[in-house]
Amino acid sequence: MNESIALQAERIEVGAIEYSSFSSTINGHYHNAKIVVLMDTNTHDLCWNWLQTTVNVLQRTQMIVVPPGEENKTISVCTQVWEALLEYELSRHDLLINLGGGLITDMGGFIASVFKRGIDFINIPTSLLGMIDASFGGKNGVNFFGFKNQLGVFQHPIATYIDKRFLHTLPAEHIKNGWAEIIKHALIGDRELWHSIVQLETLSDDISNDIFERSLSIKITVVAADPHERGMRKILNFGHTIGHALEAYFLTRQYLAHGHAVALGIIAECYIARKLKKLATDDFVQITTFLKKHFHIPKIDHLAVAEIVQLLHSDKKNYGGQIQCAFIDKIGNCLYDQAVTEEICAESLQFLFFNTPEA
Ligand SMILES: NC(=O)c1ccc[n+]([C@@H]2O[C@H](COP(=O)([O-])OP(=O)(O)OC[C@H]3O[C@@H](n4cnc5c(N)ncnc54)[C@H](O)[C@@H]3O)[C@@H](O)[C@H]2O)c1
Repeated sequence: MNESIALQAERIEVGAIEYSSFSSTINGHYHNAKIVVLMDTNTHDLCWNWLQTTVNVLQRTQMIVVPPGEENKTISVCTQVWEALLEYELSRHDLLINLGGGLITDMGGFIASVFKRGIDFINIPTSLLGMIDASFGGKNGVNFFGFKNQLGVFQHPIATYIDKRFLHTLPAEHIKNGWAEIIKHALIGDRELWHSIVQLETLSDDISNDIFERSLSIKITVVAADPHERGMRKILNFGHTIGHALEAYFLTRQYLAHGHAVALGIIAECYIARKLKKLATDDFVQITTFLKKHFHIPKIDHLAVAEIVQLLHSDKKNYGGQIQCAFIDKIGNCLYDQAVTEEICAESLQFLFFNTPEA
């Protein structure tokens, strides 16, 4: 069933894209506009043909294909795309369509928002993580000097079209990465949703509409209440303080996907919440046992802990020289602006990687 949700400046439509407002938007508002579709090589090979044949309004588009992978979420790849947009002579009235996972929608949103002081863009997420989280809410950006999302803007897409059929070609590993954000949404805002998730044997692409929609609605509600992250939107960063440091640490080593890093970050941050006596032991044990069962814990050297703690100092949420964290005090409720020490972060990493008992 096609469903449409309005989120202030942006429209989110869930369902078969051919029955959405996509074609009428292109034929109407962008009738005379140039349209460029940005994708990575995977979404080019696996999603583009299907999209073009499913909606027949994309025949007159140009495409720009960039390499996949978080290591390419950089300003230099953006520069190549901006050069191509200039070659295609895009004006401020033209349109960029981002077809891909969170990498493409984050980077494409940034590219569009900066080009000629901002052109319109539409997101068509193709990964679970993109659908449930990255493709709406207005945060766009790229990594810089090895740190996550250091350059970016708040800008909403004109619309986001979520068609779950794109998930048919998404590798199982990336399905699981998307689940990390669904789990985060449940933990910060919906205890009942968590109870449905914790009963699952596998985290597969067989996601019930109920779980999908409840997860989506948590992010939508939070963003609507605080679009520019002045306050409560920070709860969406649960798992991301430690998660982003892990992602940055592994960026130049073995690959660790964003969702996977967030799942590990949730384990560590639940440890912190437990240690600070905010989170009850039962909740702590249930969450960490479930996540450790479903998300592989990579092997690291003991010395790496100090290096990861160092990376926490580049987190965008820090202020006054202090590491700031969002963590839950019970399943379904999240606190934000919680200052945490380096020592407790290091301890949480020991728990995560070396299974040291909870102190
Ligand atoms: N802006 C936000 O609010 C927000 C929120 C969460 C995450 N993010 C960002 O999102 C990014 C992670 O997103 P992601 O997990 O989607 O990563 P991704 O975009 O790198 O996609 C993961 C992999 O799946 C491939 N892929 C995507 N769709 C496919 C499909 N349908 N079939 C086959 N392969 C497909 C991609 O090519 C890539 O190799 C990170 O950069 C993270 O910082 C942003």
